[in-house]
Amino acid sequence: MSSNNERWGSRVGLVLAMAGNAVGLGNFLRFPVQAVNNGGGAFIIPYLVSFLVMGIPLLWIEWSMGRFGGKQGNHSTPYILDSMTKARWFKYFGVFGIWTNLAVAAYYCYIESWTMSYVYHSIMRSFSGLTQTEVAQFFVNYLDVNQSYTGIPFEAVFFYILCLLLNTWILSHGLSGGVERAAKIGMPLLILFGFFLAIRGLTLGTSGATPDHPDASAWAGIDFLWNPQFDSLSNPKVWLAAAGQIFFTLSVGMGTIHCYAAYVKAKDDIALNAMSAGWMNEFVEVCLGSLIVIPIAAGYLGLDWVKENAGFGMAFQTMPFLFENWGPFLATMAGLFWFGLLFFAGITSSLAMGTPWMGFMQDEFGWSRRKSAWSFGTITLILGVPTVLFYSYGVFDEYDYWAGTVSLVVFALAESILFAWIFGMDKGWREITSGADMKVPDIYKFIIKWVTPFFLLFVFIGSIFSPLGGDWTGAIASLTSGNGWPLDNGSIIRQLFNSGLREQIAAATDPAVKAELETRLTYIIGARILLTTVFVGIAYLVYLAYKRRTATGRLS
Ligand code: ALA
Repeated sequence: MSSNNERWGSRVGLVLAMAGNAVGLGNFLRFPVQAVNNGGGAFIIPYLVSFLVMGIPLLWIEWSMGRFGGKQGNHSTPYILDSMTKARWFKYFGVFGIWTNLAVAAYYCYIESWTMSYVYHSIMRSFSGLTQTEVAQFFVNYLDVNQSYTGIPFEAVFFYILCLLLNTWILSHGLSGGVERAAKIGMPLLILFGFFLAIRGLTLGTSGATPDHPDASAWAGIDFLWNPQFDSLSNPKVWLAAAGQIFFTLSVGMGTIHCYAAYVKAKDDIALNAMSAGWMNEFVEVCLGSLIVIPIAAGYLGLDWVKENAGFGMAFQTMPFLFENWGPFLATMAGLFWFGLLFFAGITSSLAMGTPWMGFMQDEFGWSRRKSAWSFGTITLILGVPTVLFYSYGVFDEYDYWAGTVSLVVFALAESILFAWIFGMDKGWREITSGADMKVPDIYKFIIKWVTPFFLLFVFIGSIFSPLGGDWTGAIASLTSGNGWPLDNGSIIRQLFNSGLREQIAAATDPAVKAELETRLTYIIGARILLTTVFVGIAYLVYLAYKRRTATGRLS
């Protein structure tokens, strides 16, 4: 039944594609912001510990699950999970491994499309002569954030569709002809561009200080990120943020690694490959990711400005303005390199997000590569248009919260229990080590069985009950003194019921503000209904596939 006989062309191609899957916008946009918002050097220790006890184990778990499933012709999580247990219902956890990718691709490709547009504008010198405020406003206008909510940001829509078409076109050329080729071009260029900008970040020093910003110093930015502060180890808020970043940056808990690894040959190494891709991601994130935005911004505007303004938009709203300090030629090159780097980082990740859906439809319904690629593009477009048009209403953030954050933890928790406790650690260890080109440290047998699931449980429970302002000490004191547990608006419980927004609506006295907040709530609920519908739809397809498998005797 399966039309799926794809293979990786080479080991280098596989590792670059896997590294490309991991290295993404998260490395350059999310990591520096998370680090700054969580105390700089206070973040780095929990981050590295999360990498060692959760990131690396999940990489090995997912690579080995993928190769195991691939041997039986399964290339997406529902039937990879199904092949590892007799509990037939477990395959429905695998729905996360397709759904997350469709939902994340929808908004991720939107950011990716901004980078395409900003490459264009850098070449066209659109930022030349603009003040800092004007460059920031350029971005706001691009997204149409402050215009009428019914207005359509035509340029953003154009680049979004272009970006989806490009992704779909590459995917329709298959793994070795499309994804692998894109990674072989994109990854080296990304690293080259990253080096250029990182050298600038490293050498800027205090040369960018001005009377307006006398304290400006790139060194202060680097020092802030790199000076480890061990007292943060006792702060659960920082741990949760660090673990969340590890999830996002490694693309674990998504289903993409399983899918890529399912196309590895049965006897091929996965242990060393997983480490090569994982460490490459860490190098790019911790070394290059921390040497660009923060030092360059601190080098011109000062560390205090960075701390106050650190955010996702800084890369688009501030960097083009700062590059202009380097003269027309270098500013153009820096814009091209920076947004080009982001584009390559983005596309090598979004391509990976297309493959679980494609693998599933090819395996279960005999769809051709082209058909499955174009259907991915179509679903992503349908899911993505609301994030483009209703960005200001929080639709984008809603997708990011459920698909890009919560879902990863839920799925990772389920798969780590399946792997270590249901499939069994002995069998699991054999899967990880068979064909291995490296000695997998024995300690990881213990870590995978005990530490990783408990760590994930801590992250999951911590996210459900995140206390107000991330203040765990205060929340415990409040609980023990009989005043209950003050939940943060970002906790899963309050997000689920939109409690924060509902309270804002109830408290609003200005009818216009109240109406705006109510509209926001409507859009957020609409987004949630859309996401749930897609989830249920995929679950139904998994069920149909099960029926087909039963009819053809293809169940393992
Ligand atoms: N791992 C990808 C990123 O960091 C999704 O952006």
